[in-house]
Order: sequence, then structure tokens, then C-alpha cells
Amino acid sequence: MTTAPSLAPATDTVLKADGVTMRFGGLTAVRGVDLTVGSGEIVGLIGPNGAGKTTFFNCLTGLYVPTEGTVSYRGTRLSRKPHLVTQAGVARTFQNIRLFANMTVLENVLVGRHTRTKEGLWSALLRGPGFKKAERTSEERAMELLEFTGLAHKRDHLARNLPYGEQRKLEIARALASEPGLLLLDEPTAGMNPYETRATQDLVLAIRAQGTAVLVIEHDMRFIFNLCDRVAVLVQGQKLVEGTAEVVQADDRVIAAYLGAPVDDNTTPDDAADPAPTAETPPTTDAPDPGGAPSADTAPDATPPADRPAQGPTGDTP
Ligand SMILES: Nc1ncnc2c1ncn2[C@@H]1O[C@H](COP(=O)(O)OP(=O)(O)OP(=O)(O)O)[C@@H](O)[C@H]1O
Ligand SMILES: [Mg+2]
Repeated sequence: MTTAPSLAPATDTVLKADGVTMRFGGLTAVRGVDLTVGSGEIVGLIGPNGAGKTTFFNCLTGLYVPTEGTVSYRGTRLSRKPHLVTQAGVARTFQNIRLFANMTVLENVLVGRHTRTKEGLWSALLRGPGFKKAERTSEERAMELLEFTGLAHKRDHLARNLPYGEQRKLEIARALASEPGLLLLDEPTAGMNPYETRATQDLVLAIRAQGTAVLVIEHDMRFIFNLCDRVAVLVQGQKLVEGTAEVVQADDRVIAAYLGAPVDDNTTPDDAADPAPTAETPPTTDAPDPGGAPSADTAPDATPPADRPAQGPTGDTP
């Protein structure tokens, strides 16, 4: 299987991943993946369960140190420390929701702002005028984000009491609080009903309209093909195809990958008897997260969604 070339976007490049490889012992979860995201772009990352999508996100955000390859944000090599990646301008949400369960909705968003506040320890302890002003500004911005994501009316609710769809929205609000230039979303609609999924689609478009590029992993093909300017397909850790929704949907290798048929570069159109995964037949809507990244510096007390058990915060680090 050959790896699909990276299609450089016409716009300025925000994210550039070059030859990213991640090995876990004998298993190569991500193999030589090149990917770019341009400013103003929404790029989709799809692939069957276990294809390496979350692992790739973890390599981009410093949770995993790639075995090989480099990741740059706006032309500068990204740090291997998650909080510095966030500070540089790359924010993310997690496949397994990670919120501060016993904090309010507003407090969760305020936590997301910490990389953008300059007030130091003494300022906080003395609670001087500088600190109070910064606190007010942060709260105003957090409230704006809650309005933006439709959660303002829940500002004083504990995160753990929110329905699953709203927890996912809160994760997005918290990620946006760090004022990112690039937002990575790992299955933002998993477990949502069609109405919530549609609202999330509109939210992602609004995020792009505000100047933040988006890279999104999803199994919901309707969501991906409606939303994305470009879609990359990962299969067994390798990028198989990259292109517009039309190009990807028409590619026989994508069809074969989703249907479990052997992937062969010489596959001809006649070899694919079954239709491509379409909006009507998404491969799956939700999936377990073997590589869901823990992050001590983002949220130590993850909230398990009602319909999925929490994954241990330490069990899935490399
Ligand atoms: N920390 C780890 N240690 C060992 N293997 C891992 C680790 N994280 C991920 N893997 C393995 O890497 C492969 C890719 O997993 P990953 O979670 O990235 O897939 P995915 O494409 O996100 O799948 P899904 O759609 O189910 O979320 C899997 O075989 C997984 O078991
Ligand atoms: Mg995943």
C-alpha cells in the first residue's frame, strides 16, 4: 500500500505534520503520516476503528512523542509538552470526554483560559486590581463562549450533571477558551442525537468563521462530508487517500477499507461491489477509545458519559 501524498492547501498552512510515525512496541499505530491544515480550513480525518486517528491527534498535541516525524504550527515546530502546544495555539477535545466533573460549567471554561492569562501567583494571592481585572475579563470571555456554544443557561450547573451532548459542547467551549488558531475535535458527535449533531455541524462552521481552523475525527460520514473542505483517510496507521468529499467517497480503496476487504493499490472500480459508506450508512457512530489520551494538565477528573465507562487516566499513556 502506498501512502497518499499531502495536498497542500492554497491558504496559509496552520498545521504541518511530516512523516509522523508512532510505534508501541511491535505495533505501528501511525505510519509516516503527512497532513496539512490551512487557515480557514475544516479538514476531516476518518478511518475504521483502530486506524490510528486518536493516536495521530495525541502525536500532534504532545501527549505522545512520535517515534518519527515532526509537527509544526504556523511554521514553528511544536513542543512535546501538551500545555505548550495549547499555548502555541492548538486546542483539542477528547474522544472520551474529560471535564472537571465537580466544577461548574463556567469554571470548566475558566480553566481552559489559564494559558491565556498572565497573572502570576502573587497577583492571585494578593487579589490586587490587576488580578481582579484579569478575572473579570476571563469571566466575560468564558460567558461569551458559553453563549456561542449554547450553554450560557447552564453556567452554574456541575459538569457531571450535563447531558452527554452538552458535555461534548462544554469540551469545545473549554478548548476555545485558550483562543486556538487550530482546534482538533476527536469524535465531537459521538453519542449525540441527529438534532445535536446538526447543531454541532453549525457550531464547527461558526468556529471556522471566527478564524479557527479545524481538524475533526468522526465516524459519522454525513457530518464529515457535509462539513469538510478536505478529508484524509487513515487505514492501519497510513494515510490512504486525501481529497474532497467527492474524491474520497468515490475511492474504491476507502470502500474496501470500511468494508474490511483487502486494500490493494491495483484495485479497479469493478472490484468494489458494495457502495461507499454514505451519509445513510455510517460505519459506526461511536467507538471505544483505546488510545484516548489522558492529560493531567487539562482535566484530571474526567466525567464518564452516562452511556460509556470512564477510561483510566493513566492506563492509556505510552
Ligand atoms: N498507548 C497505547 N499503547 C499501545 N497501543 C496503543 C496505544 N494507544 C493506541 N494503541 C493502539 O494503536 C492503534 C490505533 O488506536 P487509535 O485509538 O489511535 O485508533 P482510532 O483510529 O482512534 O480508533 P477509533 O475509531 O476506535 O477511536 C490500536 O491498535 C490501539 O490499540
Ligand atoms: Mg479514536
